[in-house]
Amino acid sequence: MRAKIVAGNWKMNKNLAETGVLLSELKTKLKEAPDAKIIVAPTFTNLYYAFEELKEFDIEVAAQNMHQSENGAFTGEISADMLKSTGVDTVILGHSERRAYFGETDALLEEKVNTALRHDMTVIFCFGEELEDRKAGNHFDLVESQLKNALFKLDADSWKNIILAYEPVWAIGTGETASPEQAQEMHAFIRKTIANAFNAEIAEEVSILYGGSVKPANAKEIFAKPDVDGGLIGGAALDPQSFAAIANSF
Ligand code: PGA
Repeated sequence: MRAKIVAGNWKMNKNLAETGVLLSELKTKLKEAPDAKIIVAPTFTNLYYAFEELKEFDIEVAAQNMHQSENGAFTGEISADMLKSTGVDTVILGHSERRAYFGETDALLEEKVNTALRHDMTVIFCFGEELEDRKAGNHFDLVESQLKNALFKLDADSWKNIILAYEPVWAIGTGETASPEQAQEMHAFIRKTIANAFNAEIAEEVSILYGGSVKPANAKEIFAKPDVDGGLIGGAALDPQSFAAIANSF
């Protein structure tokens, strides 16, 4: 059975002291044996601290980004090896904010995914359409091309290290969510697309998370859809009460 996952993307929020406070609140608020795998993604400077703090708990730590090269003259960048040396072996790649504000293209993301997999990391791969795509009825084509360009040259075995996160850009941080039916429709399409490009078993096994204004009030309904395996949570992940409520929504 594929994994249920709730991941919190903290984005550029929480300094070291604030990270400590949020982590200790999460430790007390999350169920002891959660029904879903719980992941938190603090900023780079707090990854090692978070990893050490959460070692004894059922909460994994992920990075929000990573450079595609092994090492070298890339001022300000962070490599897969650096992440792994802090204990972190999961990375979010392709978030729409990286695509929009930092010019990350499908081709670049393909390189990043390949680098992460070479280091035996797990990738939470984000993708999703903009509002204009949906209005024009192009959302399925757009999502298919994002997947194809970054992931369809992978070998079948690599899929065990891939988690997909469908995040319609129009729903991120806007308070507007895709309806549970819209999420289900797209997730089923994604699974079918993967089954066609690879095989039914890979499509059945890959976890597909929904992201975009998931809150305690809507999580249960969205997660109840058969092809939705959990969520990638932004704003609500910064509030321990809300994140715990979402994590306990299965
Ligand atoms: P949001 O962000 O929950 O604040 O909409 C989701 C995300 O960006 O992953």
